[in-house]
Amino acid sequence: MSNYHIKHLEEYYQVYRKSIRNPELFWEEIAEEQFLWRKKWNHVLRWDFSKPEVKWFEGAQLNITENCIDRHLATRGDKTAILFEPNDPSKSAEHITYLQLYHRVNKFANVLKAQGIKKGDRVCIYLPMIPELAISVLACARIGAIHSVVFAGFSATALSTRINDSDCKMVITSDGSYRGAKTIDLKGIVDEALERCPGVKIVLVAKRIHSDIQMKEGRDQWLQQLLDEASDQCIAEVMDAEDPLFILYTSGSTGKPKGMVHSTAGYMVYTAYTFKNVFQYKENDIYWCTADIGWITGHSYIVYGPLANGATTVMFEGVPSYPDFGRFWDIVEKHKVTQFYTAPTAIRALAKQGTELVEKYNLASLKVLGSVGEPINEEAWHWYNDNIGKKNSPIVDTWWQTETGGIMITPIPYVTPTKPTYATLPFIGIQPALMDEHGKELIGNQVDGRLCIKYPWPSMARTIWGNHQRYKDTYFSAYENMYFTGDGALRDEVGYYRITGRVDDVIIVSGHNLGTAPIEDAINEHPAVAESAIVGFPHDVKGSALYGYVTLKDTGESRRHDNLRKEINQIITEHIGPIAKLDKIQFTSGLPKTRSGKIMRRILRKIAHNDTSNLGDTSTLLNPEVVQDIMDNAL
Ligand code: PRX
Repeated sequence: MSNYHIKHLEEYYQVYRKSIRNPELFWEEIAEEQFLWRKKWNHVLRWDFSKPEVKWFEGAQLNITENCIDRHLATRGDKTAILFEPNDPSKSAEHITYLQLYHRVNKFANVLKAQGIKKGDRVCIYLPMIPELAISVLACARIGAIHSVVFAGFSATALSTRINDSDCKMVITSDGSYRGAKTIDLKGIVDEALERCPGVKIVLVAKRIHSDIQMKEGRDQWLQQLLDEASDQCIAEVMDAEDPLFILYTSGSTGKPKGMVHSTAGYMVYTAYTFKNVFQYKENDIYWCTADIGWITGHSYIVYGPLANGATTVMFEGVPSYPDFGRFWDIVEKHKVTQFYTAPTAIRALAKQGTELVEKYNLASLKVLGSVGEPINEEAWHWYNDNIGKKNSPIVDTWWQTETGGIMITPIPYVTPTKPTYATLPFIGIQPALMDEHGKELIGNQVDGRLCIKYPWPSMARTIWGNHQRYKDTYFSAYENMYFTGDGALRDEVGYYRITGRVDDVIIVSGHNLGTAPIEDAINEHPAVAESAIVGFPHDVKGSALYGYVTLKDTGESRRHDNLRKEINQIITEHIGPIAKLDKIQFTSGLPKTRSGKIMRRILRKIAHNDTSNLGDTSTLLNPEVVQDIMDNAL
């Protein structure tokens, strides 16, 4: 495995150049090295960004679970695959070995089959961070069913939209979940969602909090009973390289969430290769990513990437603040975690608590620290570096997206010199480009533009479920022959990239992507609301928080604004989930609009940022007078 693990900067440049000069040869060599193929490919890559169509390893056949589980049994059967740390710190952690994982996934796969789930069927998974979540994901993959995991913080409305968009036949959930000192009635949310989902015939329910829930006759079944009766042997379905592995929804600039479709072989090869290199993973390491499997970070770097490498991956059910803000460090010490991967919003929240709770614990096991999900600000970077890494563990600031499937721009620890707030260099095989607003590529260093990718990589999403045109319009229409990321970035004097943030109407709040349109649609359903506009503003923990400008209908009735604010956040919680609640709501007499009726968000953004010294030209507005009014009443 000569070119598998990159060890120094010269080697990075060498391998990088090779991967760019002949990407097909490069990825073919990686794919040849360590995976289990039922049949090898006929073509490494076929692509055409104008359609867009991308196919990696066409003709190959495999099952990803054979690569993530079966392949390790001979040498790592007794090794811990999943190390489950429960919400309650007084309960012991569960070590699931590769052999146990094999049996549990097979049993679950047999349950799915017995319930009539077949290759290509969609299964929605709405579970907390318990082992059944990872196991159900793998069980779907074992039989070729397409999993669609919905983060268990989403509301019933958001869940039903996602279930219906991809016609899921089954939902896998639990009686409830623990979240710190609280419990959440997940099954109740599922019941409400399913009132709008006639296609769902079966609900499998895992027991977690042992609450007294309603089981719907003929639809709901206790998972454990079915597992107890199932065989622990299940022959893996043979999948084509390009068969869809999963759908994962992400917010967009328009109302409906986008079901990003990821395929099997390319996704496997890329997540495995990036995992190994970005975390410099070694055989006996204990790797912990704090994300939820409901997000892409959990799919790629809790489940598939680590397991494809035979790693031990920690799954944490709880929250960083329970029983106190030292919980993360307690877990690092207890399990001797070697790689720790989290989000800037968590780092900022923990930094706020000071260092007392950090100093209590021995963090000497740590070798690599990761950051993902949003730009990491300088202060958070230094706090992480000084107090958690003790200046000994490199920080990998990894830039990527649900759509990219795997890490795209990142330092390689102990190889790439890091620089605070910079994601640094493209990963092997990734060809970024910065574009100006006229569609011209900015060549050379010290430039600032819109971030695109010029050439396919194996784990890129292949389409949006049921809407290929939207996939094309969103990602391949802004610049010819380029994948457009929606992010702005700059390249410094040595070629390092710094992500400057979204350039579209997506706002990242606590690391969660939120499209403004779905939130505005929800608010506009309130009977008193005429229209609304959402923008982001800087927040010291969340990175960005949401600022809503709301114009009320003139009903003659005067309502208390405080009550309305509560009702608006209530509607948002019902439609999307609590993560999309607004921090500030300003009632306005109107919204600034262009003559064609488009809301001038640029102005609203400046007001929310408290930066009104230069609002630009407002004379072209249809209603310039509202701007002063909004400024005078800004929150
Ligand atoms: O704006 C970028 C930001 O998160 C977006 C992708 O969000 P999502 O699809 O939810 O995936 C998040 C986890 C991979 C990107 O378009 N983002 C992600 N990582 C970084 C980042 N922004 C700056 N620096 C990062 N390291």
